[in-house]
Amino acid sequence: MQDINASIDVDKRLWAQDIAASKAHANMLEAAGLLSNEDARAILHGLDTIASEIAEGRFIFRKEHEDIHLNVETRLAELIGPAAGRLHTARSRNDQVATDFKLWVRDACDEIDRAFLDLQRAFLDQAEAHADTVMPGFTHLQTAQPVTFGHHCLAYVEMFARDRGRFCDARARLNVNPLGSAALAGTSFALNREMTTKALGFAEASRNSLDAVSDRDFALEFLGAAAIAGVHLSRFAEEIVVWCSAPFGFVRLTDAFSTGSSIMPQKRNPDAAELVRAKSGALFAASQRLLVVMKGLALAYAKDMQDDKATVFEAFDTLALMIAATAGMVRDLTPDAARMREAAEGGYSTATDLADWLVRAAGVPFREAHHIAGRAVKRAEALGLKLPDLPLGELQAIDARINGDVYSVLSVDASVRSRTSFGGTAPQNVLSQIQFWRGKLA
Ligand code: ARG
Repeated sequence: MQDINASIDVDKRLWAQDIAASKAHANMLEAAGLLSNEDARAILHGLDTIASEIAEGRFIFRKEHEDIHLNVETRLAELIGPAAGRLHTARSRNDQVATDFKLWVRDACDEIDRAFLDLQRAFLDQAEAHADTVMPGFTHLQTAQPVTFGHHCLAYVEMFARDRGRFCDARARLNVNPLGSAALAGTSFALNREMTTKALGFAEASRNSLDAVSDRDFALEFLGAAAIAGVHLSRFAEEIVVWCSAPFGFVRLTDAFSTGSSIMPQKRNPDAAELVRAKSGALFAASQRLLVVMKGLALAYAKDMQDDKATVFEAFDTLALMIAATAGMVRDLTPDAARMREAAEGGYSTATDLADWLVRAAGVPFREAHHIAGRAVKRAEALGLKLPDLPLGELQAIDARINGDVYSVLSVDASVRSRTSFGGTAPQNVLSQIQFWRGKLA
């Protein structure tokens, strides 16, 4: 029974929140006349002693006391005697654990937010250094149109901004104080819930005791946000893996972020990226795991919910590690501008620019222009030439409306420079977006 029932090995991580919530509760009980001044002093002093014991590694967590709440309470009784028993007036472990865990997840949201901010800054630095470094943009992983590496980096700045938004929303929604809901029905004691709400930095007190003790939406939202963030981190990791491969060779990681092979001396494996990609699976699983735990539970508390903490703690640790490793890789990597340009110049990446030129210079409807450009690509392919190297005579044989001006749009540099529509890849856009983000992240 003890082995399956005890959660102390996991929930000892809530100790600081447990003590903070107990202190808030004790102060409130005293103010409400439910605890004598003398007992309140003893309890608060005892809780501070326990906090230092835990912080200094001198506290012995005992499985026979089941969880963090009972470990703290038992120790308090050892330290101050029977007065310790008064702390649990008008309280249950059900509202206690909901409160502690919300406080923990609130801090976790802040920590993840800070980590993502750091990652965004790493991407911004790369974007700034490579605002006009040309690379192929892909759809279907086929060369599509030239873009800049800076623009590509800024795509991730956008993604992680949305991730931060999700953690920020989750934090705002969770900030409702369950303490005072007691076991499930509220309490007959005249509590001042406003007081503990303020003391613990919550925005308001929960309005329904049944909901307050059985709500784990905040954990589910944290895991949901983590899962989506995991998708983003994994997609970038996949790009690193592809870019580092010899056939691509778009970026190089230093030895600090590459590993060798025990048999093939030439290998430089992007293990950190592969592990970020793999660990996203743990985030998806965590989200699924808690959804499944919660979905069948009648109101209010059920012990199933004790498993929420291992799930969230593991997901938090995994996500924090993934973000840190990704930021490390972003700072470490050097793009190979020559390789990326060479790749961008292959694959007829400026065929759309030829079609656009026909629309603009010769008034050709886009659908027809698209067809003409397609024929030019075919011809270039047959001659083994890149599009900008196709002689004018060849182009004019396809369509007589083409003249020498067309060459001004066929280079990859001209192509990216022309993409000045708001949100487009033009280096000047990239620079102004960097400015926007620097201001926003300051
Ligand atoms: N360790 C428990 C948990 O994490 C605390 C709440 C226990 N409540 C109860 N009624 N047994 O869920």
